[in-house]
Order: sequence, then structure tokens, then C-alpha cells
Amino acid sequence: MEKSVLLFFLICFISVMGLQLGDCAVTYDRKSLIINGHRRILISGSIHYPRSTPEMWEDLVQKAKDGGLDVVQTYVFWNGHEPSPGNYYFEGRYDLVRFIKTVQKAGLFVHLRIGPYICAEWNFGGFPVWLKYVPGISFRTDNEPFKMAMQGFTEKIVQMMKNEKLFESQGGPIILSQIENEYGGESKAFGAAGHSYLNWAANMAVGMNTGVPWVMCKEDDAPDPMINTCNGFYCDAFTPNKPYKPSMWTEAWSGWFTEFGGTIKQRPVEDLAFAVARFIQKGGSFVNYYMYHGGTNFGRTAGGPFITTSYDYDAPIDEYGLIRQPKYGHLKELHKTIKQCETALLSADPIVTSLGNYQQAHVFSAKSGECAAFLSNYDSRSVARVMFNNMHYNLAPWSISILPDCRNVAFNTGKVGVQTSHMQMMPSNANIFSWETYDEAISSEDDEGRLTSVGLLDQLNVTRDSSDYLWYTTSVDISSSESFLNGGEWPTLTVESRGHALHVFINGLLSGSAHGTRVNRRFTFSGKVKLQAGANRIALLSIAVGLPNNGAHFESWNTGVLGPVELHGLNQGKRDLTWQKWSYQVGLKGESMNLISSEGVSSVEWMQASFVAQMHQPLTWYKAYFNAPDGNEPLALDMRSMGKGQVWINGQSIGRYWMAYADGECNQCSYSGTYRPPKCQTGCGEPTQRWYHVPRSWLKPTQNLLVVFEEFGGDASGITLVKRSVSTVCADITEWHPTLKNWQIESYGRTERVPRPKVHLHCAPGQLITNIKFASFGTPYGTCGSFQQGPCHSPSSYATLEKRCIGQQRCMVTISASTFGGDPCPYVLKRVAVEAVCSPAVSTTVLPNSRN
Ligand SMILES: *[C@@H]1O[C@H](CO)[C@@H](O)[C@H](O)[C@H]1NC(C)=O
Repeated sequence: MEKSVLLFFLICFISVMGLQLGDCAVTYDRKSLIINGHRRILISGSIHYPRSTPEMWEDLVQKAKDGGLDVVQTYVFWNGHEPSPGNYYFEGRYDLVRFIKTVQKAGLFVHLRIGPYICAEWNFGGFPVWLKYVPGISFRTDNEPFKMAMQGFTEKIVQMMKNEKLFESQGGPIILSQIENEYGGESKAFGAAGHSYLNWAANMAVGMNTGVPWVMCKEDDAPDPMINTCNGFYCDAFTPNKPYKPSMWTEAWSGWFTEFGGTIKQRPVEDLAFAVARFIQKGGSFVNYYMYHGGTNFGRTAGGPFITTSYDYDAPIDEYGLIRQPKYGHLKELHKTIKQCETALLSADPIVTSLGNYQQAHVFSAKSGECAAFLSNYDSRSVARVMFNNMHYNLAPWSISILPDCRNVAFNTGKVGVQTSHMQMMPSNANIFSWETYDEAISSEDDEGRLTSVGLLDQLNVTRDSSDYLWYTTSVDISSSESFLNGGEWPTLTVESRGHALHVFINGLLSGSAHGTRVNRRFTFSGKVKLQAGANRIALLSIAVGLPNNGAHFESWNTGVLGPVELHGLNQGKRDLTWQKWSYQVGLKGESMNLISSEGVSSVEWMQASFVAQMHQPLTWYKAYFNAPDGNEPLALDMRSMGKGQVWINGQSIGRYWMAYADGECNQCSYSGTYRPPKCQTGCGEPTQRWYHVPRSWLKPTQNLLVVFEEFGGDASGITLVKRSVSTVCADITEWHPTLKNWQIESYGRTERVPRPKVHLHCAPGQLITNIKFASFGTPYGTCGSFQQGPCHSPSSYATLEKRCIGQQRCMVTISASTFGGDPCPYVLKRVAVEAVCSPAVSTTVLPNSRN
């Protein structure tokens, strides 16, 4: 206690000295952050500003607020802000001040994670690539050039925030900052240098006198006054490194990222809600969902390698900015319930008692009389019936019931009362027309002004990431006496690459391709090559697919073809090409001609794509035009007919695409039991990412220019523009509902006195319920999309739902025998399961099939 008071005055003193502020706005003690003198339970969510457009921000932040969030958390993206040394960019998607002011306007706080190392599945972990080439630099350790650059950028951001009065100590929304990021592993691996760097970083940050606390996440050794915080799927085992620091969970992982060739990883909301309730009942006071809105890795911002353009993360708000149900709604109810407990949680420490082998009660009783209880059941298989304060409670498996008055259950983490919404990509009325093609030139050595070298160069050192592409070309003389020219086997070319993907061209023809994986960037291409007598041109197109964002000294990892490069099966046996003369071309011809823009596009002769011979060619540019589709649903390009490449609209990069097929185990997933990403996978055998988000604000009403660069070959005429919207909504509600008051059930049983649970269904704005695909009051089986009638089924199930819901945007049906014209099976616990179809209110598209 004394120490926390001391700390309080220390921070006040610093802020008064540094900022001339009479007020010391944000401090902390062992219970929580203290804002303007008040302890707070804070619910936070990560929304990364460059992963959406400024036009989307207001809506995203409003949805976050409506979902019960107090705080929006973001990283600061150094490589987006300082593309070359001293040359800053804070416009468009990188308008950090506008983003923070958008959050402020909604009345929410901000947690600003400056880093400047951010990981985040973001290109190079957020570091500008030029930083690697500062002489003598070594990242994230006790290294002068690095520390100087890190301090320079941190100061730049802090000063910018101070100038705009954005820290809470100045009346702004920023209540918390972060320096470094998940440094724990490195600080151990780097030994003394890591430790002194850590202390330097803490002092540097505190010296900036922001008047708000700093956190260091996943860093047990965070020195005072830094708060060390937890990131993970669960954080209830976490304790801060000093008794006077609050328990904070800076990344509660709502799902997981996706890599090309991998499956989609989902996290059931029942488990996420359970994890959050576990943290709160242990005394945690700050929870941040990573991500709350994941968004999109536009352009070449994805890290990895092989992180997809989509950064959906199975977040409560999906990649496109639409609410994901039931995830969003169930968490919203959780937040509301936690807030009802806030006074008790902040003024008392939990008293823990056992209620059974796997069951516990955490009770917070404040002196003021407030009482909140969390009843937990860690049994992943069975419902538990427990006795608490002389009353019975039924706890779903792997769940916590929250009793904000220590008596009535307001919420159970395992019982989802909100509807499930299924999203679908629907055809839009946008025609993509007048496709034309342009062949990218296969690099040849004789171009003038070429960089040449004896031996192979690191890709990043040559491109400095100005393009994903680097050509390595060389030539090989083949004697006419080679036996393969006289009926023998073709020789084999082997190419060792450090990453990430490679296309091999022999005398201008694609001979084969290979790529690594995110974890194993290194790979070997090996393939038969058709060489001819005399000179042969070998052109290797090496492709970076997002620079690594994680790992000790990842900045020192090589990329590209570093050899050996060898020909096998010649008369002499093996010929090593590694140390001969190679010439280099950075990027594609089409990139240097700026074919992605409307100016550049007219600088070359395009071919009508109707000459089919031009389709399915490797290394082809495609262009077409389209008019913006009507409506205001989010849009995406369906790239299913293509292979791998990049796509642009009106000069804006939509990102990298790749129809890599997802490899994994897509088994049924149960919410209960400890979650790990492999547990709940979907999309096996499908392209990992088929749809690519097209922000509405990037379109004009007519003549939008779509440009695609395709590496393998594909059918561009198969590309379509689709709209994302709710297709069906489901409810699955038990007549005995967890939000019912348990004591009422105990006292009265299921009688009319008990408030009846209700089915709530709502389609998106602008939609109506047009069909009831399934309805059963009784004992139905299955889940949304695959419901089936059980042994008990009310014959009026469909009629009841149809009467109340058809033609409505939203409807509500009380679950009781009288609503359904009688009880189909008395003394049996019944449910109502419904699946309803949502369609545009003014329908211009084909209506989904009707049930009859
Ligand atoms: C980059 O290439 C130059 C020229 O080949 C070389 O001198 C330098 O060491 C390389 N730098 C790195 C970091 O690899």
C-alpha cells in the first residue's frame, strides 16, 4: 500500500514537472488502473487503424462501444509512418491522430502500443526495412544505433500525441501506453545485453513524461514503474511481478491468424467468455481482445511469410466490419454483467471456496455491502449442480455463472442466448468488363544498367522491399555432346532458397515453382529442365511473401536464392552455377511502368483477353473496368479462378492473393476443454483465402480500374465482385434459460411467474426475414445450418415462427406452450431451434429457395 502511494506521487511529480499539469490523471495500484482517482474494470479491444479505412473507423468504434468496450487498443505501425528515414507519413489509413480522435469522439479510451516493435503478423514486425541497413545495427538489444532510432520514433509519436493533447493527463483519451512488445523470450536469450536494453527502454519511456502508465507485455522482468502484462488464450495463472501492480491481460486472443495454405482457426465464444471470466474472478481488471476487429492486410503489409491478406482473426467484428454473432453478442452480455459487479470486484479481494472436485466459488464482498460471485465449473464434460449460499445452481460444463448480487445468475459463459448469424458472399450487380492482358517480360541478362555480381545476393539487400519480386538470371552453355541431347534424361536443376517462393524459367518458359512455409522459409526447388545445345537462359523469379515479424534477430534472416544452384545429370555429373555471374532485376517491368494506375495503364499496348491463348499464361497482367455495385454491403473480389499474385483497384493495393489449398484437420469442435488453435479448424481442402476485401471508399460510381498481376496463370474472366451480408440467422434457446433466476426456478418450478425466455431474430438493416428454413419447439438436434427435428416437435412450430417473423426485419417469440398452441411433450425440457433466411428488403437478386 505504501509503495503504491509512493508510486502515485512519483508519477504525479513527474507529470507536473514534465507537462506543467496540475492534474495527474492515470495511475495504478494492485487492483486496477486509476483514472481521475477512480479504480476501473476496463474492457478493451484491438482495432488496428491501417487494417481498415478511415471511412470505416467511426462505425467500427461505435460497434466496439455498443459491444461494451471502454478502451480501443492499437499498435503504432512504424514502417507505415516512416517509409524512408526522416520522411514521415500520417495520411489515409495511417492517420493516427484522426483514428485516436475518432475513438475519443465515441467516448472511449485508447491504449497506445508504440512498440515500436509490434510483431502483429505485420511486415517485418513493424520495423522499416531501411533500419536493417543502418551501419552496425542490431535490433532489440543494447545497441546504440538501434536505441537511437527507437528513441527517435517513440519521441516523435509521443510528441505528436502531446501536441494534439491526446494523453488522459492532458484531457485526452490515451490512458495507457506500451514500450517494446513480448520481449520476455529475447530478454532471456540476449542475456546481459537484453537486460540492460530492457532497463534502458523502460527509462526512456518513463522519461517522456506522458502522465499515463506504460506496460511491457509478456516481460516478467519489466522494471518499475512498468506494468508487466499477460498475452495468451488464458491468463488466470498470471500474477504481476510486484504486489502493487494490477493484473492486466493485454491480448486475450479471440481467434488466430491465417497463413496461405493453412486452415481458418476459430475460437468458440463460450471458451473465450470462460477465459475472461476466469481472469476477472482471479482479480484481473483489464482485458483486451486481440483482435476485436482484425481487418485486412492491404498492400504488402502482411508479415509472415505467408500471412494472408485477411486478418479476420475470428474477431467479434469480422474482417469486413460486420458483427459476428454469436461472438459479439455473447461477449456484450458478459461485459454488461461484469460491469454490474464492478464495485465489488474493485473494492474486495476474492474469497475462494470449493464447491466440488472441479467447482469453485469466487466471492467479492465489499464493506459497502456489495457482493458479486463467480461460480465456476472446470469439468469439461458434465453439468455440475452445486450448492452456494444454501441454494442450488446448475453450471454448464467448462463455464462460469456470474451472480452480480451473489444470488441471481445474470450470465453463464457456456450458455449462448443470442442468435447466430451466417454471412454469405452474394453476387453483386457489378459487371467486370473489357478484360485485356499484358505479358510481363521474362527477365533477360542483356538489359543495360543491370546489377551483376559473381555469386548470389540476399534478396532484401537488393530490393530493400521495394517489391516482392527479384529476378536472378544467368546463362549456361551446353555442349552438343551432352548425352541428354541424344535421347538421355533431362538434367535436373536444384535451387536452394531462403524464401519465400520461386518460379524457374528456362529459355523464357516456366519450368516449375516451389515455396517454403511460414515456419520453414527455406526450401529447395528440384526439377527436370529442358536445356538446348549452346546458350541457355536461366531466370529465377524469387518472391518475398511478407517479411518475418517474429523470432530472435529476425532482421538478420536471409531471403531469396542464396544457393547452391546446381545442374545434375550432365556428362560431367554436376555443374555448380552458384559462383558464376548473375544479374539482377528488382521488381516487375509492369511495376516500374506503374501499370496499376490509370496513367500507367495507358502507357503500354494491351491485348483483348478474348484471344484465349493469352489466358492461363504465367506472369500476366490483366486489367478491366467495373461500375460500383448498388447497396452499401461490404464488397470483396472472388479470386477463385486465379492462382497467385497481387490485385489493385484504382491504384490501391487490395493485397496479395493466393489460391493455396488449406491443409489441416477439420474435425467437429467442442467449446469445452483447453483451447489451442488446431482445435477448431475450418476450410480444409478449400483455398485458404478466396475473397479479398474491397473497401467501398476506394470505388467511384463508374469506370473503376481493376488490375491483376498473376504469376501462375488463371482465368481472369472468372473474377467477380461479391457483397457480404447476413444470409441466415439462427436461435437455439432452451425454455429453461440461464438468465432465469435460479431461486425462482427452485421455488416455483416452471410456472407462469418465471419470466419466459424469448427467441430474438434480426436480419441486417435493409433486410427482411423471407423464409423460416427450420423451426421446432420440442427436442430438436443439431446446430445452426443443420438443425433436425427430434422425437418431440410441436406441429405448429413453423406456423408460429412464420406468422411472427416473415416480412419483418426483427421478431421476437416467447417460448411457452401457449405461444405454440399447446405443450407437445409435458415434463420434458424443451428448446426452440429456428433458422430464418434474410433477404434484401427491395430484392433485385434471386430470392433463396422457399421451403415449400
Ligand atoms: C548488402 O550488400 C552489400 C553489397 O553486396 C554488402 O556489402 C553488405 O554487406 C550487404 N549487407 C547486408 C546487411 O547483408
